[in-house]
Amino acid sequence: MDSYSLGYANIALVKYWGKKSKDPVLPFNPNISLRLDNLLSKTKIEPSLTDEDEFYINDEKQSQEEVEKITKFIAKFTPIEREKICIRSYNTVPTAAGLSSSSSGTMALVLACNKYFKLNKTTEELVEISKEGSGSSCRSFYRLAAWLEDGSVEELSCDLDFGMMVLVVNEDRKKISSRIAMERCVQTSTTFDAWVEKAKEDFVDMKIALKNADFEKIGAITEANALAMHATTTTSTPSFTFLTDESYRAMEIVKTLQEKGYRCYFTMDAGPNVKVLYLKEDQEKIYEEISKLWQKKIILCME
Ligand code: ADP
Ligand code: DP6
Repeated sequence: MDSYSLGYANIALVKYWGKKSKDPVLPFNPNISLRLDNLLSKTKIEPSLTDEDEFYINDEKQSQEEVEKITKFIAKFTPIEREKICIRSYNTVPTAAGLSSSSSGTMALVLACNKYFKLNKTTEELVEISKEGSGSSCRSFYRLAAWLEDGSVEELSCDLDFGMMVLVVNEDRKKISSRIAMERCVQTSTTFDAWVEKAKEDFVDMKIALKNADFEKIGAITEANALAMHATTTTSTPSFTFLTDESYRAMEIVKTLQEKGYRCYFTMDAGPNVKVLYLKEDQEKIYEEISKLWQKKIILCME
């Protein structure tokens, strides 16, 4: 019997980028994501054999800073008096590369704690807890999820069968975490207010587009929203960017396919990798076309 708990990555079509409040964690703007069932974390908890809490990802011992971050988070919902534990997690998603390992990892951790400490929480309660670990993780509990400014999470539906692939630019751990990067943008970006206003409008338009199953509109909003989010990094002090020349080349490839009539759209998160949104029925032909132009690694996220 496999005792691992599974958590899934999700990619935002309308991004969460900035906390209006840190305790509880509330986003500046409502946001929407799609779950990626092939990119996941699996986590199990065992009693620690040492007198410390321990945390391993892919059998690699995590830093003291990471252990402290996790210990502080789980203290919010686990018994005050507890034995030291060893958290073992495996990511099929690259860790800290802008592919949402924080979401899959936090969801898996929350579920693993629920099991190990016999907390018997409902899904709704686990969703609430999860976002205190990592904001975007609360959306991973649903295929399509909206996280609202008041903190609530709604499951959305759409008649389209989506697919997503990643054009991998770099799987290495990023130099600046999403958390620190978004905080810098909140504090210093000269376009942050404009970003929040735009994202609020995008949210409303995206909900309508999803309801109408209007894929062209969904794609257009997804691309524009990602570009607006990334613009806040270059207007921050000190200025920075997650995108590299290779990211722009990947975006160009998506644009080239669009010009040829393929229905596919890009989005990027806190990392250089470019995700491509398409309809599942088009997956084979889009994969074939893209692989002619992108000889580096491609990850299919939702087979
Ligand atoms: P990403 O773009 O992959 O979401 P972030 O910088 O937002 O990167 O988050 C990376 C952080 O997420 C890691 O430093 C770690 O704290 C957390 N994380 C990643 N994988 C796991 C996991 N399997 N279990 C618990 N936490 C994880
Ligand atoms: C760019 O959820 O990782 O992926 O709440 O500080 O843990 P914390 O941040 P996190 O940020 C995700 C940022 C994003 C956009 C998104 O997923 O909406």
